Amino acid sequence: MSRDKNRAHQAHSDHTSEDGVPLNSTVPDGTTLDVESPDGSTPDHRVPEIQGSRRDFLKGSLAAAAGVAATSLWDPTNAFAQKDEALPPGPPARIDDEAYWEKVRTQFHLNPDTIYLNNGTLGLCPKPVTQAVYDGYRYLAETGSEGRSQLWDEVEESRKHVARFLGAGEKEIVLTRNATQGLQFVVNGIRMEPGDEVLMTTDEHIAGTRPWALRARRYGIRVNQVQIPSPPGNKQEVVDLFEQALTPKTKVIFFCQVTRGPGLLYPVRELCDMAREKGIISAVDGAQAPGMTPVYLNEMGCDLFATSLHKWALTPSGTGCLYVREGFQDNFWPGSGGNGPWDDREQGLYHVGPHGTYERPVRAAIKTALSFLESIGMDAIFARDRMLSDYLKEQLLEIPGVSLGTSRDHALSSPGITSFGVEGWDTSLLRGILEGKAGIILSRDQRRYHDLVRVSTHFYNTPSEIDRLLEVLREIL
Ligand SMILES: Cc1ncc(COP(=O)(O)O)c(C=O)c1O
Repeated sequence: MSRDKNRAHQAHSDHTSEDGVPLNSTVPDGTTLDVESPDGSTPDHRVPEIQGSRRDFLKGSLAAAAGVAATSLWDPTNAFAQKDEALPPGPPARIDDEAYWEKVRTQFHLNPDTIYLNNGTLGLCPKPVTQAVYDGYRYLAETGSEGRSQLWDEVEESRKHVARFLGAGEKEIVLTRNATQGLQFVVNGIRMEPGDEVLMTTDEHIAGTRPWALRARRYGIRVNQVQIPSPPGNKQEVVDLFEQALTPKTKVIFFCQVTRGPGLLYPVRELCDMAREKGIISAVDGAQAPGMTPVYLNEMGCDLFATSLHKWALTPSGTGCLYVREGFQDNFWPGSGGNGPWDDREQGLYHVGPHGTYERPVRAAIKTALSFLESIGMDAIFARDRMLSDYLKEQLLEIPGVSLGTSRDHALSSPGITSFGVEGWDTSLLRGILEGKAGIILSRDQRRYHDLVRVSTHFYNTPSEIDRLLEVLREIL
């Protein structure tokens, strides 16, 4: 689809989400929530001639697992393959070594006339990852059920890699399609009686609020909300506000590690410790965290954590995971019977997953994406993200009328999300102008308490892309 057609599509569908939910709809608890709008972008991929076989597939995935750019199955006459350079070995000597990051950028398919600042909605798969997905489906098409069994092992490798990546035990992770699916398992897996309460913030994503609202309507639990200012003064203020909003009936606290709009970084450990001391369950929406900010599940102290991986961890679209702390698993009801012994604790969570026939090549490619990130180095990625957002925040504050919804304090802000409001401007209008005028793709977050433009920058973005955004903002404001 050309970009003009994309834009026409986007203009047409700007007021509904991908799942047809009206934007800015009001959920039963009365909170006005923003919903992700479709980005409508479909890059013009040409499918090359591929020489594939079981041997090649295994070779490709082994290479990918070892962190090597898996271009081996591309036809060398293919235009993409000719342009590709291997991923340079990381980490770079300096975080502002633009020559290094330019080489990293060649590993992505992004249309050159798009400035993509919307990683918080969907990350861009690196070329080795799209290649691995293609190889997996090709392999299935060649081998049918035999290949399906082989791919099961590959999916298991991905699941174990996710556990290592997030600092969790192998028995604590199950793969899901996205954060939304994991959150549904979370909400429905906790034992609660009518009248029991969950406390969440006013900044939750709709994927978190909706299943709680459904459970409240159907089973008579209660949803309470606490408003955390954007930005708060310090971490203790966040913990205190939560603590003050608890009641004797609070059974669960639910919050994001990184909030969708302001990109606020919550003090997860402190909140979970406070909850555990009071016998309260802690459940975290981690959708915006893995791949952008450190996630060490076994140190964070939460009982449950659901996340997508297809945002900052750059895995194929339609991948996520659910974590249930081993010590909490006896209190957790799985969301599905799956195809296996869901109540066999020895085997951990694996059998809790949504099974049957599913997109195994997609899940098998999760490990390719994680290896890609690790070959750059996670510390380098976090630092690069931080460098870009620090620069953006500093420059935004120079523009009259702009105020930050994101904190400048690293202890309270995530490295990748910068949000701002502009006095007198409706952010949906601003967003439309930025896209139409300069091909800048970003998002917004509109709530009862704020109306923010959300810029989400990852390591593949460049300082010059940020400069272009600032230049256009200066022109129009
Ligand atoms: C905080 C948060 N939670 C949940 C989701 C839903 O993620 P997914 O579409 O992967 O299910 C998002 C998506 O943007 C999000 O930002």
